[in-house]
Amino acid sequence: PLVDLTSVADACKAERSGLGAFNVVHLDHAEAFVGAAAEAGRPIVLQVSQNAVKYHGALAPIGAGVLAVARAAEVPVVVHLDHAEDVDLVQDAINLGFTSVMYDGSNLPDDLNRATTKAVVEHAHSRGVSVEAELGEVGGKNGVHDPSARTDPEAAATFVAETGVDLLAVAVGSSHAMTTRGAQLDLELISSIAACVDVPLVLHGSSGVSDDGMRDAIAAGMTKINVATHLNKIFTTSVRDYLIENMEVVDTRKWFQAGNAAISAEVVRLLAWYAAPAPV
Ligand code: G3H
Ligand code: ZN
Repeated sequence: PLVDLTSVADACKAERSGLGAFNVVHLDHAEAFVGAAAEAGRPIVLQVSQNAVKYHGALAPIGAGVLAVARAAEVPVVVHLDHAEDVDLVQDAINLGFTSVMYDGSNLPDDLNRATTKAVVEHAHSRGVSVEAELGEVGGKNGVHDPSARTDPEAAATFVAETGVDLLAVAVGSSHAMTTRGAQLDLELISSIAACVDVPLVLHGSSGVSDDGMRDAIAAGMTKINVATHLNKIFTTSVRDYLIENMEVVDTRKWFQAGNAAISAEVVRLLAWYAAPAPV
């Protein structure tokens, strides 16, 4: 079924497990991810980013498809708008039935980020929709890797108290769109932020983090784990290999299936890994 983000993320935070949040660009992604979540027996977040909406030219066709996949699922599925800088798009997502939105004002001056996030929260909550916001900008969105940004724990606590957000994305050493998994997270900082902030924390740019790094981050207090590039890389590599081996194929379903099977298997593995208790 389709569920809201706050209740699922709060439950994961309470048990110190990670909640996998995977980016959907094509409807096939949503089908593959939900199939994987059912196999793993875990809740999942399907997220559509403002950039994906730009690619399609509109939110409604892809958004309605993702919502239909979520409603038919046998495990809890959140449908979330990712990295929205445009408040009108947030409104569109709420009207369409998304159960969660990220308003991303992380590149704005803190005062403006705080004021706009607060206004988004007031409206979204009146419609029963969860809100994620970001404080301290996680780099890499412009293609330049910059893992140097850091979120201050006290500032994070103040931001959450003043805005009423349900989840907070923080900068702790990751960077977006990495195609290798060597990012070093600042685990002490994750623990300090988790000690100050009572809402679940979100890790962006998780593709650059190794399996062990992810387990340590979850143990330190990270809850929602956003992954896009890592799965895109697996999808594209699998499709490329399949097409090279099957040069005569023209049916698009054949090669989509090769990509879908590969990302589905990886999501089953990741969800089990995020759910596993950390070593003590
Ligand atoms: O919001 C989406 C994530 O932060 C994805 O980042 O492509 O580096 O995994 P990634
Ligand atoms: Zn992100």
